[in-house]
Amino acid sequence: MSKEIENHYILNRSGNEPFSSVLEKHVSRRGIMQGGLGVAAMTVLGGFGLTGCSNFGSDGEVPKGELPEKTALALAFESIAGSMTDAVVVPEGYTAQVLIPWGTPLNNMAPDWSADRSMTPEIQANSVGMHHDGMYYFPLNDADASSDFLLALNNEYIDQGALWAPQGGATNASSGVRPADEVRTEINAHGVTIVRVQKQPDGTWVHVPNSPYNRRFTSATPMELSGPVAGSRYVVTAYSTDGTKTRGTNNNCASGYTPWGTYLTCEENWPEVFVKDNDREADDNRLDIPTGRGRYGWETAAGDPSEVDGEFARFNATPSGATAADDYRNEPRTFGYIVEIDPYTNTRAVKRTALGRFRHEGCWPGKLVEGEPVVFYSGHDSRNEYIYKFVSDAVWDPADANRAGGNYDRLAIGAKYMDNGTLYVAKFNANGSGEWLPLTPSSRTPDGQTLAGALGLAAGDQAGIIIHTCDAADLMGATPMDRPEWGAVDPVSGEVYMTLTNNSKRTEEGTEPTYTNSGSEIDALGVGYATAPVNAPNPRANNEGGQVIRWREPSPDETTFEWEVFVFGAAASDPDNLSGLTELNQFASPDGLWYDERGDGQGILWIETDNGYDGVASYTNDQVLAVVPSSVSMNEGDAAVINASDQAQLKRFAVGPNGAEVTGIFATPDRTALFINIQHPGNWPADSGAITQPATNAASGDVRPRASTVVIQKADGGKIAV
Ligand code: FEO
Ligand code: CA
Ligand code: CA
Repeated sequence: MSKEIENHYILNRSGNEPFSSVLEKHVSRRGIMQGGLGVAAMTVLGGFGLTGCSNFGSDGEVPKGELPEKTALALAFESIAGSMTDAVVVPEGYTAQVLIPWGTPLNNMAPDWSADRSMTPEIQANSVGMHHDGMYYFPLNDADASSDFLLALNNEYIDQGALWAPQGGATNASSGVRPADEVRTEINAHGVTIVRVQKQPDGTWVHVPNSPYNRRFTSATPMELSGPVAGSRYVVTAYSTDGTKTRGTNNNCASGYTPWGTYLTCEENWPEVFVKDNDREADDNRLDIPTGRGRYGWETAAGDPSEVDGEFARFNATPSGATAADDYRNEPRTFGYIVEIDPYTNTRAVKRTALGRFRHEGCWPGKLVEGEPVVFYSGHDSRNEYIYKFVSDAVWDPADANRAGGNYDRLAIGAKYMDNGTLYVAKFNANGSGEWLPLTPSSRTPDGQTLAGALGLAAGDQAGIIIHTCDAADLMGATPMDRPEWGAVDPVSGEVYMTLTNNSKRTEEGTEPTYTNSGSEIDALGVGYATAPVNAPNPRANNEGGQVIRWREPSPDETTFEWEVFVFGAAASDPDNLSGLTELNQFASPDGLWYDERGDGQGILWIETDNGYDGVASYTNDQVLAVVPSSVSMNEGDAAVINASDQAQLKRFAVGPNGAEVTGIFATPDRTALFINIQHPGNWPADSGAITQPATNAASGDVRPRASTVVIQKADGGKIAV
């Protein structure tokens, strides 16, 4: 997302023990470390109990890496050096090309891209959006699934400098009234792009202009509300007096997909596009809806003579009318959801409120088992926020699986699995166990109240629980995490990986935390950690490196799990380089993540970074790394699955251009093309006039930067990475 739109405040005022503190105890209860860590690392860990063995082997199962009669999957490329240039770098023998950069016309309503042309609302609504993030592919038929498909991608936010470059910047960017058409253009640069892409006979990829599938969902597109919140009083607005509709999706970060062929887009740093100056409610504060001026001042265009149906007024949630049906006080309550889109057929999109309301990073389906519930994992990417899981009431019927390209109502299938179910939040215990705590009105808080009662809601008010998801999670005693980002699921084992990107302001080991009441302890409900002590899955006080954790559940609908740290990010020279990283794989702030199944129960875990830690940023731009999880296992005395002896297994595969983060990732079913996104590049792609071009070229001068998808392939057409 870049630091530009991140909210740095700790909004969690609960007294719940943070993950860093849990991790400290987790390590210390394992007793004396039995090797694998240096003295410096031990000092950093202090009294944390290190795992004495893999958490996951304790039930007598043979760790996957020791299974007999399998040819171990191995990464067949050399880890590349770090890079700090205006170009994408890939290993020898690979190519990388630019595909569908921002502003690429989707149809004849938009002219060809020109670096000198100003964007208009109409051009932007008919062109690829800005700042590509999560994405996924949707085949049109099974035979051509690796060469012709619909690409659905998130356009997370905007770079006003690049967007308004021809006129020298946005008008009244930080004060005064924004011009209506600039606001409309910015709104249309956000959201989701659906575009058909094809591989040419020469191996290059192009988009298909004027494909009837090509379209945009922007921050103005009408959307339906579905699930517990739909039709409730919480979402009544002047636009939808029955609380069933809203307009737009915002700041769509990571993505997800469903087994029935729909795309999930996830609303992350959306609160800042709104303002609410008074009559603020608990959820406004918990999610930090601003006062004064929104991120881009969209609300200042309200009252423009051209305004239609409160299109700008809706960004100001300050009550102005007699009732909620007369103003937009509830507009922010129509955001913060997982949004389901059928890329093949419908133009409508549905906000699935049952999956919770917060700053959703992404949404990932768990292991799919016939006759068992369908599960989705999701993280709230803010400091000291939580990890969630949704378990459907309906059980999986393989007849609902996607029929590629078919014209039928996938959103009806989505309603079956995503509108009714139970939302849980994660509690991590120091002993490597964990619990999923249900967020239902009748759930009991640790002090014995019903959750609805503790929140001051009517009995049975599930809509209220969802509106106040974060407060509900606070009250249930969930574990505050180090900014959960992407998840990934091994579809065979069901193991779930999640990146915890960083949290640079936890309290040092051996020092006291600070509290939101400026006192010395948590002595009242609603008073929490301002700077949180370390805990087990978030073990480092000044955690700039982040980590990837992994957990496993007995089955998708169980409420217990076992967890461990998979790898710690760090600079190679850091004293708390707990995974023993070297120059050839040092990384920090893991963000994007994808489990790339390669058959025979094996796969590759791809890790992408969005780093702001100087220890690594002074060596390399953001990057893509790969590791075969079955090639590494937790050894006695190690702090993480990946330790100093595993350095050959974790390899740097690609590096992005200056200024960019690398995000969004999938490969074609035949695994010959890996798609990634380059977001907020500083001076890339090299040819500002071209649509397709090598991503590995560096510009000779200054260009108008364009976020873009990049397709990485082997020059010989073989499978990626092996
Ligand atoms: Fe949009 Fe959490 O990164
Ligand atoms: Ca990030
Ligand atoms: Ca992210």
